[in-house]
Amino acid sequence: MLTAIIVAAGSSERMGFDKLFALVSGKPVIAHTIAAFENTKCVDEIILVGRADSLRELQKLIGQPTKVKQIVAGGAERSDSVRAGLEHVDSKSDYVAVHDAARPMITPEKITCVFEAARANAAASLAEPINDTLKRADTDLAVKESVDRSGIYGMQTPQVFERKLLEEAYELVAKKKISVTDEVSAVELLGRKIVLVPNYDFNFKVTYPRDLPLAEFVLRHRESSS
Ligand code: CTP
Ligand code: MG
Repeated sequence: MLTAIIVAAGSSERMGFDKLFALVSGKPVIAHTIAAFENTKCVDEIILVGRADSLRELQKLIGQPTKVKQIVAGGAERSDSVRAGLEHVDSKSDYVAVHDAARPMITPEKITCVFEAARANAAASLAEPINDTLKRADTDLAVKESVDRSGIYGMQTPQVFERKLLEEAYELVAKKKISVTDEVSAVELLGRKIVLVPNYDFNFKVTYPRDLPLAEFVLRHRESSS
């Protein structure tokens, strides 16, 4: 059984307003994200983690029938929100997918690919190959050195894990009081292998106001070509 935890408890500081409720291609950003998981066959249950003050609004967004089994409040850091979600995963669930609500361009096909990779390797993440030339700079922005681009990937979500592995990783994060920005970083602490699934499609995190028209374009384009 696969449970998806969709984390939506951020404060949208860089956007300046609640980005997850911004309308894109006819519906809120987060409604696109939820729909992708609802429409993925291998996803059995969805846990939505939201801001305490938007739980009611999230509830209103959920259609019927739905795989959303719980809508729970998140925490101050993204990792706190993931852990809040983990506490509500069905006891029969043996795999957990964690996904940023702010990535509405995810597709059932990509979710399924990452799940298959996690079934074969216990831990897998969608990842973006980096195309730009990379440099490391000093604090005064003077170029210090080149960074070899080969084997460099940007981490995206979903990230899918054996449930026990993810729980163990977050226990270690809590015990060592380490701050992690994604699940791969948490599982890395256990020294476990995590495989990447390269993504050549759009799945950027809606972060700045400039991202909204781009997401609109991508989602509308997909709708018109499907
Ligand atoms: N998130 C969360 N709980 C937090 C912080 C973030 O659930 N305490 C979620 C966000 O809602 C988002 C995802 O994690 O879906 C990725 O975070 P990010 O894109 O950084 O969103 P925000 O933290 O809301 O934005 P900002 O950093 O600009 O405030
Ligand atoms: Mg953030």
